[in-house]
Amino acid sequence: AIDPQFTENREQVDEHNGHAVWGPVDEPDELGIHGTHVAVDFDICLADGACLEDCPVDVFEWVETPGHPESEEKADPANEAQCIDCMLCVDVCPVDAIDVDAG
Ligand code: SF4
Ligand code: F3S
Ligand code: ZN
Repeated sequence: AIDPQFTENREQVDEHNGHAVWGPVDEPDELGIHGTHVAVDFDICLADGACLEDCPVDVFEWVETPGHPESEEKADPANEAQCIDCMLCVDVCPVDAIDVDAG
């Protein structure tokens, strides 16, 4: 599961689509965590898609990640500022790849 303390345990190494990327990143095998308020651990996401289907405000968009061992696309929190903290995505992800900081 995603580390809920990732902002303390990782360093921000990049930016993507207006949100932070938390390392380590070593493409294509290791992609890190995308987003801060809505954070997706790309190394855990296996492209189930439930978060994209269920988010009421369309926070997520697919991004292609060719060559990653878990899946060749990931749910990117492209619109994390729109999040209304409903926690649906956290509940539906089968591999607990998503952390939403509702505090
Ligand atoms: Fe969307 Fe709710 Fe998840 Fe926020 S907590 S990203 S609004 S499903
Ligand atoms: Fe990935 Fe979980 Fe969404 S596996 S696509 S973050 S439901
Ligand atoms: Zn991203």
